[in-house]
Amino acid sequence: MPDRLMNISKNKLLGKRIIHLAKVDSSSNYIRREIEAGEITEGTVVVAGSQMKGRGRAGRAWESPPGGLWFSVLLRPRLPVDERALLSLVFAVGISRGLDSFIEQKCQIKWPNDIYLDHRKLAGILLETSGVEEDAYLIVGVGINVNIDCDKLGSLSSRAVSLGDYSSAALELDSILEIVLQCMERYYFNFLHQGFLEILEEFKTVCLHLEKRVEIASGSRIISGINVDIDSKGRLLVDTGIDIEKISTGDVNVL
Ligand code: BTN
Repeated sequence: MPDRLMNISKNKLLGKRIIHLAKVDSSSNYIRREIEAGEITEGTVVVAGSQMKGRGRAGRAWESPPGGLWFSVLLRPRLPVDERALLSLVFAVGISRGLDSFIEQKCQIKWPNDIYLDHRKLAGILLETSGVEEDAYLIVGVGINVNIDCDKLGSLSSRAVSLGDYSSAALELDSILEIVLQCMERYYFNFLHQGFLEILEEFKTVCLHLEKRVEIASGSRIISGINVDIDSKGRLLVDTGIDIEKISTGDVNVL
């Protein structure tokens, strides 16, 4: 049972219904269970006070203690699979723009969708898609360190940062959620109606490693070189000195 049901959003879609849970295994798992039970509509947002089994990209665990903004959104984009993958970059730009409004500094993005501040990770996005054609759904899981003591994040502590440490005002999770959902919706509809190219140009302006030397773990390979561009399919182009590699998945290490 939800602990609190509220609607703070003036959006058309994202957050028309918001379910608050004090504690859950994972807000994305909760949505998945509701889909199976047939009890959830597109645009529903599930917010967790804390998660016991928060999940990150590549099967990693995501530390989700109280004080962070941990939420998932259910969408049903009617898009071919390759275009759905671009949403990773689209939401990264939208969320980072939303977070920019709470601080003086600008967020940066590490491809494909990690949000950074001061070269440390502030927020992460996990896109999970399933189902075919009419039934296809996308769960967008978003984790933002807001009022988190990063020293308590174990092995991540030296690589993580919390928004509250960059703001002189106290940060309310509901206000951040409202703005972030507005920005996510704006970039989502822009993408659906105008396509990817304008958002891609914006992504490039805030990309942490464009024109820098990177090392990418992609499957069993490590690719090193200069990140010379990002193409219209959202792939990272890396000049290895031998050729230009086009990378669709992987973890970027900025050298
Ligand atoms: C990453 O590895 O960077 C992605 C992290 C995504 C974490 C969020 S928190 C809300 C949602 N529920 C989860 O279990 N994971 C996502």
